Amino acid sequence: MHPLQCVLKAQRCLRWAPLASVSWLLLRTCRAHSGVRSSAGPSPERRQEDGVWKDFSSRLATGPTFQHFLRSASVPQEKPSTPDVEDPPPYLTVDDLLGTQRKVYLETYGCQMNVNDTEIAWSILQKSGYLRTSNLQEADVVLLVTCSIREKAEQTIWNRLHQLRSLKSKRLRSRVPLRIGILGCMAERLKEEILNREKTVDILAGPDAYRDLPRLLAVAESGQQAANVLLSLDETYADVLPVQMSPSVTSAFVSIMRGCDNMCSYCIVPFTRGRERSRPVASILEEVRKLSEQVLQLIHERDNICKQIHLPAQSGSSRVLEAMRRGYSREAYVELIHHIRESIPGVSLSSDFIAGFCGETEEDHLQTVSLLQEVQYNMGFLFAYSMRQKTRAYHRLKDDIPEEVKLRRLEELITVFREEATKANKTFVGCTQLVLVEGLSKRSATDLYGRNDGNLKVIFPDVEMEDVTNSGLRVQAQPGDYVLVKITSASSQTLKGHVLCRTTLKDSAAYC
Ligand code: 5AD
Repeated sequence: MHPLQCVLKAQRCLRWAPLASVSWLLLRTCRAHSGVRSSAGPSPERRQEDGVWKDFSSRLATGPTFQHFLRSASVPQEKPSTPDVEDPPPYLTVDDLLGTQRKVYLETYGCQMNVNDTEIAWSILQKSGYLRTSNLQEADVVLLVTCSIREKAEQTIWNRLHQLRSLKSKRLRSRVPLRIGILGCMAERLKEEILNREKTVDILAGPDAYRDLPRLLAVAESGQQAANVLLSLDETYADVLPVQMSPSVTSAFVSIMRGCDNMCSYCIVPFTRGRERSRPVASILEEVRKLSEQVLQLIHERDNICKQIHLPAQSGSSRVLEAMRRGYSREAYVELIHHIRESIPGVSLSSDFIAGFCGETEEDHLQTVSLLQEVQYNMGFLFAYSMRQKTRAYHRLKDDIPEEVKLRRLEELITVFREEATKANKTFVGCTQLVLVEGLSKRSATDLYGRNDGNLKVIFPDVEMEDVTNSGLRVQAQPGDYVLVKITSASSQTLKGHVLCRTTLKDSAAYC
């Protein structure tokens, strides 16, 4: 960030960023600026005498132009979607901003917001060419994402810094010296106190300064301490896609806002995280869409995840969907179905439908019939509408479809659903399906049942079979076993067949 940009940003910081801290930041930034110095210059006469002024003019001519500063200072409404390495400030080159494969070790303390901040910081550094390591010993950069909420949280960080000091001194003679950074709330709260108290710290970045990390690290490379603790009124990192830190995590945080305006009398958060601001809805949706894409991709890739998706449509009429306040049209729903089918070939689909919702016309009903035919679900759950107290429909709409009409429409939906599901399920006849055994069939004590990869019920006689992993061994299937079943008949609800052998998920590539 250029000094001028700092000033412009500082103007937007308003109340929560104490003025003292802003001028402190400017000072630090100027110190790091090895090009044009703005203060403490000699008098004009002396400048001309000793040639400094001439030198200054020539350097000015080759330096950044006014346009350059304007461009850097303008605050775009929508930040670019890939914040690649930005224009470097005049005292750094583009190459200085690149991580050049240096390894970053990130450690997170405190709340879920810090987990998300760590992912954002990492996303920014990754784009700048840094690598990540989970091994502290091989790290070139150690970044602690800190918490200030209670005294103990900060004490933990001081203790950690004490440990890191010895690690750093051991590395002093190495080709790449270890750099240590304090990120987040503690950097924001204590600012230069950290740099003064713990000389081992090279960089400080407040919660709104993570985009500046590549520059801060580049400055630190030259051996100077670097800091940016400016708070912002509008930084939400909307365009930075958080990168999940560990491949083993099973959940992801989607941040929808930053900061806090509550000012609870005991709480430091409004001072460390700044003013409350919401992320644009479009960028939240985009992130959720990307996460959903990842889920579809996983379902497609992994044999141990059942390829079935339940997508309750409720109605095939956009008019009724609007009355139901479902938030999508028939067209959008159908488009999503196509996308899912392209992403997961052979996926099994199920849905819920309501017959006779308030104001549903015969035409609306026929639209639902046609949606059932168009999608051809494998499983369906169909209901006649029953008005429930307290609902919006109870207060605002009229339950105006006579009971017999609701039931007749429901019957028609069930008939069409069964016809379509039977057609879809008949395509399995003659195929061999991998079935996860669940137990004894409820209808017949001599049959077992299980489910195929599309979660369809498969029924087969409970007989002895060969075990493929143990050839020669005869076994009877138990709940939890995988068996191969040759399908001989299909209805709208179930597949039937005879069992071939017991197998494992690994041994059985997709059969059909
Ligand atoms: N009347 C009929 N069906 C309903 N459902 C939910 N509320 C009602 C209602 N008042 C159905 C929807 C939902 C499923 C769980 O139950 O189809 O997806």
